[in-house]
Amino acid sequence: RIAYVNGAFLPASEASVSIFDRGYLFGDGIYEVAAVIDGKLVDSASHLARLKRSTGEINIKLHLSEEEIENLQRKLIEKNKLKEGLVYLQVTRGTADRDFTYPDDMKPNLTMFTQEKMVSNVAIKTGYAVKSVPDLRWTRRDIKSTCLLAQVLAKQIAKEAGCQEAWMVEDDGLVTEGGSSTAYIVTADDKIITRANSQKTLPGCTRLALLELATEENLAIEERPFSLEEAFAAKEAFVTSASSFVMPVVRIDEKSIGNGEPGPLAMRLRELYIDFAK
Ligand code: PDD
Repeated sequence: RIAYVNGAFLPASEASVSIFDRGYLFGDGIYEVAAVIDGKLVDSASHLARLKRSTGEINIKLHLSEEEIENLQRKLIEKNKLKEGLVYLQVTRGTADRDFTYPDDMKPNLTMFTQEKMVSNVAIKTGYAVKSVPDLRWTRRDIKSTCLLAQVLAKQIAKEAGCQEAWMVEDDGLVTEGGSSTAYIVTADDKIITRANSQKTLPGCTRLALLELATEENLAIEERPFSLEEAFAAKEAFVTSASSFVMPVVRIDEKSIGNGEPGPLAMRLRELYIDFAK
């Protein structure tokens, strides 16, 4: 496997950054995950726009244009002969002696690697089981930061409960989002419910594209929060992310959603998204 580190393509086993990298010391960095189908990046402009926004919000100055970054990603995909999977990109503030504050002239560390994974060509027989957990994160979840400890713990709890995703819930009982996905429910009258973008959640690239596709199909969408109780009683539930596209949710905690099988609307949205991605 070939990785990218600060201008060089290297065997992944030789690719490294300093132990003084601020991403390593403080989680002082931003990341992006984009899917690859048939060797091509999916919805790349959207991911690069979010990267720019995230780095801007925490004042990391990446001196590469979106086009230059995309060219590097393309090269990496080629070098790895990646047909289907993910490209992971991380940019940290850079390397410096450990101090919470940072010098003005930081040079960001940019790393990238690919991961083989079937994202489109997956038989969705069972869907995801979800475990609800308290949302322990900071209040700027719109920034795609590498500080992922709360999500690591949430998803590990979910895994140990036999689930494939965690849904994070605030003190008010409202679901924010999945550990690494956007959360949705479908009401009895087939309305798609998901939170409006705010600082409480990551603005999903898959979400943005999917809501556009759903609008074109004249499907009803309501952007508002929903509670765990409402989700238990929902007709369908599903999640979206670059790594899972649209994935039906068939169980939340001990409650089956709908008839406990992947819902027809979620499956239709999955097809719509895969057509778009290809
Ligand atoms: N996660 N919400 C959170 C907290 C996420 O981490 C992600 C993505 C999403 C969905 O965003 P998008 O549709 O742009 O992938 C929502 C990536 C896949 C990850 O951390 O691996």
